[in-house]
Amino acid sequence: MSESVGVDNLIELDYVKIDGGQGTSKANSAKRDLCIQHVSKSFQSKNGSVYVLEDINLEINQGEFVCLVGPSGCGKTTLMNIVAGLEKADSGDVWANGRRIQGAGPDRVVIFQEAALFPWLNVIKNVEFGLKLKGISGRERRNIALEYLKMVHLTKFQNSHIHELSGGMKQRVAIARALAMNPEMLLMDEPFSALDAQTRWILHYELQNIWMKTKKTILFVTHNIREAVCLADRIFILSTSPGRIKKEFAIDLPRPRDDNDVNVAEYSTRIMQELKAEIDKVVRCEMDADSCVECDIKCTSVEPAKTDIGGGI
Ligand SMILES: Nc1ncnc2c1ncn2[C@@H]1O[C@H](COP(=O)(O)OP(=O)(O)OP(=O)(O)O)[C@@H](O)[C@H]1O
Ligand SMILES: [Mg+2]
Repeated sequence: MSESVGVDNLIELDYVKIDGGQGTSKANSAKRDLCIQHVSKSFQSKNGSVYVLEDINLEINQGEFVCLVGPSGCGKTTLMNIVAGLEKADSGDVWANGRRIQGAGPDRVVIFQEAALFPWLNVIKNVEFGLKLKGISGRERRNIALEYLKMVHLTKFQNSHIHELSGGMKQRVAIARALAMNPEMLLMDEPFSALDAQTRWILHYELQNIWMKTKKTILFVTHNIREAVCLADRIFILSTSPGRIKKEFAIDLPRPRDDNDVNVAEYSTRIMQELKAEIDKVVRCEMDADSCVECDIKCTSVEPAKTDIGGGI
């Protein structure tokens, strides 16, 4: 792994030779919350075996905000699902807070692209739902739910029905519901990708404030580089076919960050340059699907590359 300093102190680490994901010096000194060690994963499809992830090594510290970016189909969701315990790796281990992950658990809560709320329950009952399953009494769970609804600025909407909320409000309910469970870690898979630019900008600000207050460990997948720069302590770029960690960037900018900040824009441009080679590879696969020699799998149905710099925000 080689280190260089890019745009105004943007620290870049090349994963030329995977060495166990040692990360930056800042990362080395803190307590680990998540350890991904030599994780590989393939899927069986009707065209044969699809090798999705190869020897992924990644360590995330307690209270750290880490973003994963990479071309469509490079295995980001698969890696997230392995960490969530929803999918099993073929080889390698994942450790969360010192315990080997063997399935889903309340210490890791996933927030998806579409807020998976219960439409038959109102806002506050959605937030209370997991607490009820945990056996927490009515009054206590109401207080906890109100605390987190206040954090996402939805106190006024506590009695609203889910269908009465906007997309951004639904995602804020999903965040409140996740936080109410007091997990060690939030796993967020493109949670804001269906939202308009303004709502996204507001949620970037809110999520930063929530993270600064709660200091939860967050693993966040996005295609929007500016979003990643706005939110993350570190950004990992995954290469494609199979997914490998290609590069790590440490974002040392003061918080809360603004999408329109000049440093955020400059860092985004630099990171996008790095990602472009991977996106080009996916595009070449799409153009010549039958005779692709770029990747280790037979590319018959690669989705369009959807990584964007997020410059329109
Ligand atoms: N259950 C499955 N069975 C077979 N193949 C799968 C399965 N799940 C994922 N894949 C394949 O694994 C690869 C990685 O998928 P994954 O969803 O992890 O990518 P991604 O990086 O999250 O993509 P996107 O950015 O589009 O969300 C893809 O080629 C996909 O077709
Ligand atoms: Mg995905």
